[in-house]
Amino acid sequence: MNNFDFCSPTYFVFGKDRENETGVYVKKYNGTKVLLHYGGGSVIKTGLLDRVKSSLSKEGIGYVELGGAAPNPRSGLVYEGIKLCKEENVDFILAVGGGSVIDSSKAIAAGVLYDGDFWDFYSGKAALMNALPVGTVLTIAAAGSEGSGDTVITHEDGMLKRGAGGDCLRPKFSILNPALTQTVSTYQTACGATDIIAHVFERYFTNTTEVEVTDRLCESIILTMIKETPRVISNPDNYDARANIMWAGMVAHNNIVGVGRTQDWNSHGIEHELSALYDCAHGAGLAVIMPAWMKYVMKHDIMRFCQMATRIFGCEMNFAQPEVTALEGINRFKQFLSSIGMPTSFRELGAKADDIDYLVDTFGIGDGKTGGFVQLAKEDIRAIYEIAANE
Ligand code: NZQ
Ligand code: ZN
Repeated sequence: MNNFDFCSPTYFVFGKDRENETGVYVKKYNGTKVLLHYGGGSVIKTGLLDRVKSSLSKEGIGYVELGGAAPNPRSGLVYEGIKLCKEENVDFILAVGGGSVIDSSKAIAAGVLYDGDFWDFYSGKAALMNALPVGTVLTIAAAGSEGSGDTVITHEDGMLKRGAGGDCLRPKFSILNPALTQTVSTYQTACGATDIIAHVFERYFTNTTEVEVTDRLCESIILTMIKETPRVISNPDNYDARANIMWAGMVAHNNIVGVGRTQDWNSHGIEHELSALYDCAHGAGLAVIMPAWMKYVMKHDIMRFCQMATRIFGCEMNFAQPEVTALEGINRFKQFLSSIGMPTSFRELGAKADDIDYLVDTFGIGDGKTGGFVQLAKEDIRAIYEIAANE
């Protein structure tokens, strides 16, 4: 196991009706004037936004509102949010929504305290050292942004989807009421489940040895997702299955399962080009890319893929031909994704093989290589898109 530092300072408030305590937690973390940031309207429709506003008012906390954060959130609204916060002397950003709303909130939080263009953090020009405090009321189990220090934004100029991160962006508190996720559509629920599994696999595929505790934690999260996702798909109101998925989504990405080991993250990078170009759901893009990536890199460490196949997907170990076991594990993963309604090919996603040149060009590594498990250059990225296109 490698040396590591791990600080996950977010205060989690979990369970039924807990959103009614939002004001208490904003106050606890010294918020006096809040930017109430939300998405395309689901929180208005469900009445959640009104409950959150009442809770703020009960504690005497003022707020200004900014709705409209889109899935794959855009830079335009971030600039608008930064301007609004400065004009209104906002000192706390409250995200009410999913990963997109939270990521947009984090970008605004970082931008308000920075003299330059907030995009500098995403283009790699500046390091993220400081941000306004962010709190979240989560409405979908997926991105894990409620516990992570990460944010992903798409810049409209060139439609570049890029990430930034820093511990200063970890939310001060996150309120997780699984009942709030009961209104998420079946498709978005499955996209979220796929993203959660992908966050674990990005960490699971590592070259670091002697990482039994995090290996086993990773496996337990994926096994949970394999058990619980079909339960919420067949019964969207199943609170207990929703609760397990919601906590799995947090644990999958606050890095507790990733400490002390190298991590890969190429599937995410390769996927981000798809959601930037086609505006598809991030989880759907991952369902197409992850199995293709696995097939491409499998030979790098067949025994790690066999471990996945046997411990997670219940495959029999073929000691004479381990690559048969590894491939069987990948195929079972793909079958699981199909069974929950995810696309697993370019065709099913609506992506086009003709766009591969563009996708490879915009993948921001120049002539370099990227990835913590297998280092990939542009020609490797192309090969992975081609596998997905030929499925
Ligand atoms: O916008 P509204 O109207 O709220 O509708 C949303 C949106 O259409 C809807 N939704 C959310 N909660 C709902 C609901 N509909 C009904 N009832 C509810 N309770 O679901 C749709 C998707 O929401 P979104 O926030 O986009 O989903 P998700 O949480 O999957 O976030 C995706 C974004 O997170 C990024 C992705 O790249 C993508 O841009 N990621 C962020 C990460 C991070 N910050 O750590 C890590 C991830 O790897 C990921 O890249
Ligand atoms: Zn993700």
